[in-house]
Amino acid sequence: MPGFRRWSKSKFEKNPESSFKLLAAVLVITFYLIIKEFSNPVVRLSSRVPKYGAKIQYANHTSEWGRADQEKADKVREAMKYTFWKYREHAWGSDDILPVTGASSSLRNGWGAFIVDSVTTLVLMGLWDELALSVEHIVTVDFTKTDDLVDSFETTIRYLGGLVSLVDLYDAGVIPEDVITKEARDTILEQAVALANALAPAYDTPTGMPWPRIDFTASKGVLDPPASSPKNAKHKNSAIGPARAGSSILENRVLTRLTGDPIYARNSTLAWAPLVWSKWLRTYSGLVDAPIDIITGEPVGRQRHWDAGHDSYYEYLMKITLLAPPFDPYLEQYKEQFVKAARSLRENYASRSASAPNHTMQHLYLARGHEKWFINRQSHLACFAPGTLLLASKFYGKEYENLGLFAVALLEGCRHTYDSTPSKIGPEAWSWIPKFGYDEPVYSPTTRRAKEEWRASGFWSTDTQYKGRPEYIESLFYAYRITGESRFREWAWDAFVAIDKHCKAPYGYAQLADVYRVDPGQWSGDGKDRWTDMQESFWAAETLKYLWLTFSNANVASLDRWVFSTEGHPFRMIR
Ligand SMILES: *[C@@H]1O[C@H](CO)[C@@H](O)[C@H](O)[C@H]1NC(C)=O
Ligand SMILES: *[C@@H]1O[C@H](CO)[C@@H](O)[C@H](O)[C@H]1NC(C)=O
Repeated sequence: MPGFRRWSKSKFEKNPESSFKLLAAVLVITFYLIIKEFSNPVVRLSSRVPKYGAKIQYANHTSEWGRADQEKADKVREAMKYTFWKYREHAWGSDDILPVTGASSSLRNGWGAFIVDSVTTLVLMGLWDELALSVEHIVTVDFTKTDDLVDSFETTIRYLGGLVSLVDLYDAGVIPEDVITKEARDTILEQAVALANALAPAYDTPTGMPWPRIDFTASKGVLDPPASSPKNAKHKNSAIGPARAGSSILENRVLTRLTGDPIYARNSTLAWAPLVWSKWLRTYSGLVDAPIDIITGEPVGRQRHWDAGHDSYYEYLMKITLLAPPFDPYLEQYKEQFVKAARSLRENYASRSASAPNHTMQHLYLARGHEKWFINRQSHLACFAPGTLLLASKFYGKEYENLGLFAVALLEGCRHTYDSTPSKIGPEAWSWIPKFGYDEPVYSPTTRRAKEEWRASGFWSTDTQYKGRPEYIESLFYAYRITGESRFREWAWDAFVAIDKHCKAPYGYAQLADVYRVDPGQWSGDGKDRWTDMQESFWAAETLKYLWLTFSNANVASLDRWVFSTEGHPFRMIR
């Protein structure tokens, strides 16, 4: 670990130059937003192909590659209908249905998380009856009332993202007027504004970085878990990962565009400013050392990776350069930070697996750093990275093509985890033996099972579940739309067939306890114990949406016109 030694003596040093840059950046933001972005409402609504950056999709959709594979697209649409109607019949209005028992749960403040989160999937698939029912619910919810603490991150990406994306889709003219009227559209936007205003206390910190939770009744930000004494509120626990600071800017910029009120873009820009214009020396350029204290802005740990808790900060650094108008003065800074982070990731944490006795092929995975340790473990979440890297490699032009090669190699690694299990679904997390010894890995296969898996496939599972997650399929969607290679569509179909076969339960799509053990005969409870009785709303918001879009005509939600949030909600690129 060449970078580590520097840190072992003086832990968190400031970089004096960047302090000034951060201050300057912060001062300009508000002023700039008021003057430029919202001065011309007519221009705001036009939807042209961007001038900044290259075209993203492989070719125009009228050629062979862009045609829908209608039969497969329809099968996915059937799965969405099944998901919707089971929820409608048994759990309507609660946050989520429990797909095995048909009971329901409301752990997301009870505003109907499933309904709001799945609404943009319904639009793209043209499921108008289902959409009409969903809108009926959305316009009646009071998004400002809840007795439970509100998770600012989850609420922004699932609820706020779904609402503003729905308005954007309406404004783009893709929803029939008898499904959503102009009045309903305005009410949905009002609901988004009410929610965003209720979330406002999140940004009331000395740094502008968000509180992890908000108490809506008291209108103030709190820690998670809430501090038991005021002393706790100072430092203990007041640290968050980069994803929490950096995953509200897309949603809030769209809200600012839709309302003309600069406060949302301002606050969400300030929320990640301490990361983008970091005044702390970093172990590796572009890669955030985390967690970071929201009170002081200081890194209080040294975890570095693109995996859970960090992921969408890097995703949004790239995607804001797609969404923001070309005159945004920070585009170059965002792009530079993203490219630096991507290069640091490749140089330090891309790790090829060594050959195993019965599997000589070597695959590329994403490791993590923590203090001096090299953690040879990747989770399914990090399979989002190929998609985002491919977007960058195409949009930023020829010079960045090697990021695309890196991305495809990572995607092939994710594919290998799917292809190696009996269910043909990849595990939640896995480890491997790095080919290069200097990596000094933390993990090695110790149990009999781990050794067997490693011998057969060159990696072993460290968490055997499948949670209905989208990231692998999401990256296949980007890979197909960007490269036009038919193998990515085939892999997406393989994944759908496997998931449909093993996860489809009496009341929805269940999670799997063990992707290596899916034969009902291996389990008790009439085989039902192979399932975990949960169906997260991202199953409908993302997994099914990206599957369907991979088989639909490539003109639907074209990557040259739409930017997908980290929850799969499409926003219009307006330039
Ligand atoms: C798309 O490509 C086809 C040929 O594959 C061409 O005939 C057509 O003009 C192109 N359309 C646009 C809008 O570029
Ligand atoms: C914006 O951030 C300030 C703190 O800088 C906070 O007081 C205010 O409530 C926030 N407003 C919104 C709409 O987020």
